[in-house]
Amino acid sequence: MNIAFFASHGGSNFQAIVEALRDKGIAAAPVLLISNNSDAYALERAKNLGVKPVHLSSAQYDTAEEFQSDLLSLLDKHEIDLVVLAGYMRMIPKVMIEKYKNRILNIHPALLPKYGGKGMYGMNVHRAVYEAGDTESGATVHLVNEKYDEGRILKQGKVAISKEDAPEDIARKVLEVEHRIYAETIEEIVEGTLELD
Ligand code: GRF
Repeated sequence: MNIAFFASHGGSNFQAIVEALRDKGIAAAPVLLISNNSDAYALERAKNLGVKPVHLSSAQYDTAEEFQSDLLSLLDKHEIDLVVLAGYMRMIPKVMIEKYKNRILNIHPALLPKYGGKGMYGMNVHRAVYEAGDTESGATVHLVNEKYDEGRILKQGKVAISKEDAPEDIARKVLEVEHRIYAETIEEIVEGTLELD
């Protein structure tokens, strides 16, 4: 199974997944790391991990169609079976969602359907959880469809929040869970114990 990762910033999830797959000898090949952001540390991580780093952004093109066509050609050329969004801050083009139906995964740093939707990304999520006084949070791996954050939930992991936890503490705890459950989800998909269709 050939995997393409998409990341806009740090890429810690990307690295955690690649390392887990390699450590456990899972039959999946991390083939591409695509970033819309030329400064993304994820591109650096890709180089270090021996995964092909690609900077590809709609800003490099005059039209959305040209961008989408190059993106789809790139995925085709590398015979990508599974797309893993790991902190990717751009919308996935509709043509790609249709072509890779039930083959695009995302991770969200909260227990969806809570704290999903517009504006709910990064620290905004953890601040909202903190302000609501919730005693738990977590992460959700889900399929990507046209409605953001609403695709089928594949796996969730929870963390307890104590009264002393600031939003930054919640973020740190949730990120640890993300690394664990994202890798587990992909392992289960590759091994056939988790069906995507
Ligand atoms: C994670 O919190 C993920 O849930 C969100 O973006 C963050 C990415 O972190 N979508 P990293 O780039 O994998 O370190």
